[in-house]
Amino acid sequence: MKKGNFYITTPIYYPSAKLHIGHAYCTVATDAMARYKRLTGYDVMFLTGTDEHGQKIETKAKEAGVTPKEFVDRIVEGEKGVKDLWRLMNISNDRFIRTTDAYHEKAIQRIFKRMYDKGDIYKSVYKGKYCKPCESFWTESQLVDGKCPDCGRPVEDAEEEAYFFRASKYAPRVRKLLTETDFLEPKSRVNEMVNNFIDCEGGLQDLCVSRTSFTWGVQVDFDPKHVVYVWLDALFNYMTALGLENDQYDDLDKFWPCDVHFVGKEIVRFHAIYWPAFLMSLDLPLPKKVYGHGWLNFNGDKMSKSKGNVVDPYVLGERYGIDALRFFLLRTFPFGSDGNFTNELLIQTINVDLANSLGNLVSRTVAMVEKYFGGQLPDSFDGRSNDDDDLIATVNALRPAYEKEMEAYQFQNGLGEIFKVLSRANKYIDETQPWVLARDEANRERLARVMYNLLETVRICAVLLTPFIPESCEKIFAQIGAGELTTWDSAEHFGALNENVKVRKGEAIFPRIDMDKEIEALNVLMAQSNAPQSDPVLPDVTIDDFAKCDMRVCKVLTCENVKKSEKLLKFTLDDGSGTPRHILSGIAKFYKPEELVGKTVVAILNLPPRKMMGQESCGMLISAVKTENGEEKLSLLMLDDSIPAGARLG
Ligand code: MSP
Repeated sequence: MKKGNFYITTPIYYPSAKLHIGHAYCTVATDAMARYKRLTGYDVMFLTGTDEHGQKIETKAKEAGVTPKEFVDRIVEGEKGVKDLWRLMNISNDRFIRTTDAYHEKAIQRIFKRMYDKGDIYKSVYKGKYCKPCESFWTESQLVDGKCPDCGRPVEDAEEEAYFFRASKYAPRVRKLLTETDFLEPKSRVNEMVNNFIDCEGGLQDLCVSRTSFTWGVQVDFDPKHVVYVWLDALFNYMTALGLENDQYDDLDKFWPCDVHFVGKEIVRFHAIYWPAFLMSLDLPLPKKVYGHGWLNFNGDKMSKSKGNVVDPYVLGERYGIDALRFFLLRTFPFGSDGNFTNELLIQTINVDLANSLGNLVSRTVAMVEKYFGGQLPDSFDGRSNDDDDLIATVNALRPAYEKEMEAYQFQNGLGEIFKVLSRANKYIDETQPWVLARDEANRERLARVMYNLLETVRICAVLLTPFIPESCEKIFAQIGAGELTTWDSAEHFGALNENVKVRKGEAIFPRIDMDKEIEALNVLMAQSNAPQSDPVLPDVTIDDFAKCDMRVCKVLTCENVKKSEKLLKFTLDDGSGTPRHILSGIAKFYKPEELVGKTVVAILNLPPRKMMGQESCGMLISAVKTENGEEKLSLLMLDDSIPAGARLG
């Protein structure tokens, strides 16, 4: 009999770059929670996915020379892509949604129209500050030092016809939801939301929910030059993936309202304010909870590609095993607050908790049962003693204590409860001194009882560790002969294990790591994985396609700045035809005009003429471009002066 249904989600990820350990943090936490709920007897729906629309993706795809869909397909489905990473991390999601899935896109159009028909979406003009990388609009008062409050990058003035969602209408209800219920946790995040976005000057502003300046998004079907704002599109994934406004799925009755959305702290605003307001507009039930977890920094600094301090889960997973990595993330940092990832902390946690407290206890216990009993305890024995009471009482108190922490999403504390018991068991070995008992045949029953108590303690701890380190727990169960006794019920009371339990020695589950050597090796590996990667090679073209480009050697006759343009240089070139050719090139940032006069350069001649700043450009100069650490580097292709003008390249 199932206890009930449980629906849990992660944010859906932007497939704009490779995911790092910070992204994996939330998904691993969600996975542990989903596995815990399944263990305790719930029918679980665990949803994750990718958020694939928006200007950022459109721009990146253009830079890579592919369509936006090709671009996201590669990052979502390709080698070491999002789905690969979740497989690697042993993520047990039940469903994966892509916002480019046809059923989702269609549903978003219907949802947008419903809100419009209701009068909650209206057309107006947007004037404001826009952060391109975050795809977020901000009011002047929300900016921090004139910059985006989320990412700290410059914002730009934006003005365009747009649809707006009447968030202001729902402000009082959202305010009540935040202040009078447990909808948003941890509680520390409530004030920030209410003060900054609802009780601020001017109150909660209506939200701009369409754009016309790019096309990569869900089209507003009744006004096709608009695409739906990426956050409206993205937030509804939580319901379209269950069947809202589509026939693909039919699980809304079973799983909605959602039990908990796990989200990073910087996107709490969207989940705790606009998401409930959207649902209120559609008269849909609200999710039961939004939990805003903290961020993982690296060595005290925000993880970012440009800082070159991104931690690659593939590197760590391959080296230490996935379970060690999953465990480290949830054991070391309190879920609701920020955490500081360091390599030293990672190795230390693996050594102290996994290799010593857990791994060592398992291998010592199994080795002793092998040594003293040939691998199997006798059919029956007594050997009980009051000296066991404390251990047994500690184990019996474990499940409720663990459950309390897990129900509050306090993974660190839940694991803490288990490790208290493991350390009690290690102490029990010192107290009972099995090697002394083994010296005298008269102590046989007592020795068997001590072994039994250790195996039973390990078993119950392993049951409760399954949500965190599932593969290792399988190995532990096999070594200690737990058989079918791996269920939640079997972890309630000490003593379910059969007395004549048979163990099977196996390899060390978490070998100890040499800290100093390892840190050195790890630093090298991480530097390698952060080395700038070259852009992906573009799709193939035929030799005939290539031959269509008329690339020629040209001599620079004159070169000058273009008035009112910071970017453009105007070239007059000798292309060998006898008629001077004019080309405008956006390289003024990199060269002074006088440096280039007389140089031998390469141009594509047969591009259609283009007007820039009122002047015609007939062709394009070839240069090499690369962005490194956020800075663009450019070199104009120049050849040996002995090559005559008009020589063809090919
Ligand atoms: N696409 C949106 C979510 C839409 S949900 C309807 C998004 N995507 S994201 O890929 O940028 O981020 C996904 C999640 O990863 C967010 O919850 C974010 O907080 C989390 N993290 C990204 N870097 C992180 C750390 N360094 N540490 C912890 N979590 C961080 O936001």
